[in-house]
Amino acid sequence: MKTKAPLFIIWATVLLGGVFLWGGCSPQKSEPVKTVAIPDGEYDPAVWGQAYPLEYDSWLKSKEPNPPGSKYRKGWTGNGKFDKLSEYPYLALLFNGWGFGVEYNEIRGHHYMLIDQLEIDPSRLKAGGVCLTCKTPFAPKLKEELGPNYFKDPYLDVHAKIPVQFQRLGVMCIDCHDNKSMDLKLSRWTLQKALTEIGKDPKTLTRQEKRSLACAQCHVTYVIRKDKDMKSTDVFFPWQGSKEGDISIENIIKVIKSDPAYLEWKQTVTGFKLGFSRHPEYEVYSRNSTHWQAGVACADCHMQYMRVGVNKISNHNVGSPLAQGMVACQQCHAETADWLKARVLAIQDRTTSLLNRAGYSVAVAAKLFEIANQAQANGKSVNQDLYNQAKDLYAEAFYRINFIGAENSAGFHNPTEAARICGDAVAFAETSAALLRQALAQAGVEVPVNVNLELAKYLQKRGVKGLNFKPEEEFMDPYHIQELLTPDASLGLPVVAP
Ligand code: HEC
Ligand code: HEC
Ligand code: HEC
Ligand code: HEC
Repeated sequence: MKTKAPLFIIWATVLLGGVFLWGGCSPQKSEPVKTVAIPDGEYDPAVWGQAYPLEYDSWLKSKEPNPPGSKYRKGWTGNGKFDKLSEYPYLALLFNGWGFGVEYNEIRGHHYMLIDQLEIDPSRLKAGGVCLTCKTPFAPKLKEELGPNYFKDPYLDVHAKIPVQFQRLGVMCIDCHDNKSMDLKLSRWTLQKALTEIGKDPKTLTRQEKRSLACAQCHVTYVIRKDKDMKSTDVFFPWQGSKEGDISIENIIKVIKSDPAYLEWKQTVTGFKLGFSRHPEYEVYSRNSTHWQAGVACADCHMQYMRVGVNKISNHNVGSPLAQGMVACQQCHAETADWLKARVLAIQDRTTSLLNRAGYSVAVAAKLFEIANQAQANGKSVNQDLYNQAKDLYAEAFYRINFIGAENSAGFHNPTEAARICGDAVAFAETSAALLRQALAQAGVEVPVNVNLELAKYLQKRGVKGLNFKPEEEFMDPYHIQELLTPDASLGLPVVAP
């Protein structure tokens, strides 16, 4: 890219008549079509839509099936959702013990966020009303009204307090916009608090910052704090001790480990209580990625400008840039759509290969703990010093694979960071396994070279729907290295009739 930079600037300036500001590299604000007063506290997007019909129309489109993006982000074609646990079978083993190991689907359009919660296996909603925090604009109001009960009351009880006509509607205009000025606005207390904690004043954000932070209201990881009865008492972003542009997995792990109240679930295979990461798009993207350093915002790639008649608007049907012909990228890059797509895929293939490596390493370590726990239950004495060291290393590995596995760009948002984290996960998992093998050998427990992962046990007949492994959805290592390391027979995958 370096050698192309000058050409790129000239191209952008000439072709687009200087609409790009190089510093932020973002297009100029397109003015709203017309201004009709939107009453304070108006939630209904249809009313906002009377003032801004073009944005409203494009927002409505997130209801329609999406063409597939890359092979890793297949969109939603209207024929059922894609099963993340079939895509990454080791996750079924690692997440066994709570809802994420039962039903975990790929995301689809913004329209569906509440619908998908209502349709998912009930084990996923056990945390309670807290799950609504990034799914409905009524969350801040419900939290005010219900106080601590907002977090812990049963999900369906809190959900029932949303006005009926909005009970199945996802992100709305009021989540991101001020009704008077239409400026971007952060409506979630979670992000306001998290920004303050990393030394950023939520009141003095620039427009370009808000073009990312509007998304960071939800596309971030979070912690649900538990009381001693495992009832939810709060939700917050584990950013304490981090800085803007430097929210690292290392610091997130530090926060998770700082208080037992942040350990949300118990992993069946190992019996360990652990924390959990969800969709850390903002954290991964903002940690020194090339695009972040160039001042590019989420909205530049996911809400690109589009022409509607004589007007130019931001596309409110957020989705994969690949599903939209790479026009978002071509606002800044002069290359062809095919060239750009190939760059994305090259990055994603490499990340997926490494993620496989890390995922299977962590899965093997988990199974070794199962063997060690079993041996102890049978009266063998396992060296506790080695066991505890292995346990610490295992947690480090687990949190890393969990983090990158939950990030939704398959590495594109920050290729080098994703690779770094997966590489470290492999190292932690392998060291953990080595210590455990040593402890087991000392205890006189024989362990096979290839530990059987028994994946069928975790993938078949999941939850109330009895979900099964869908082999056609699996993302195998595109370079076939994993096959050399983990023989088929030790996967223990379900035998599927041809
Ligand atoms: C430089 C462009 C770029 C920027 C900036 C960017 N993304 Fe992405 N994003 C992508 C690409 C490319 C993909 C992969 C799409 C695919 O594989 O089809 C992606 C994937 C995603 C996905 C999954 C999409 C799907 O269809 O499943 C989400 C969610 C997402 N990005 C959110 C964000 C958020 C939030 C930010 C800001 C913190 C952000 N992105 C910044 C380009 C970008
Ligand atoms: C997920 C956040 C989000 C939601 C929800 C959202 N918008 Fe936006 N909107 C944006 C962003 C980001 C921009 C670009 C703002 C900028 O560059 O200053 C934008 C821009 C706009 C603009 C300025 C003109 C333009 O197109 O760039 C209007 C008008 C607008 N949105 C209307 C709406 C309406 C009406 C709704 C509800 C139907 C809505 N928005 C929902 C994020 C959102
Ligand atoms: C109020 C919370 C919220 C906000 C704000 C939000 N998102 Fe999302 N986003 C979600 C959820 C939840 C999903 C998954 C919905 C589902 O699968 O039902 C999602 C899905 C997506 C997808 C996948 C869409 C598809 O068709 O596959 C992309 C891309 C995305 N968001 C990008 C963004 C960007 C960019 C912004 C900021 C402009 C943003 N989101 C703001 C919650 C949010
Ligand atoms: C708002 C402008 C902007 C948008 C939109 C944008 N890029 Fe970029 N991109 C940049 C800049 C600036 C650089 C750094 C260029 C340089 O300094 O050489 C860059 C760098 C890259 C690189 C090289 C990255 C590296 O680490 O070496 C790739 C690949 C790339 N972009 C692909 C994409 C794709 C694919 C999309 C759309 C999904 C996209 N870009 C959208 C501005 C943008």
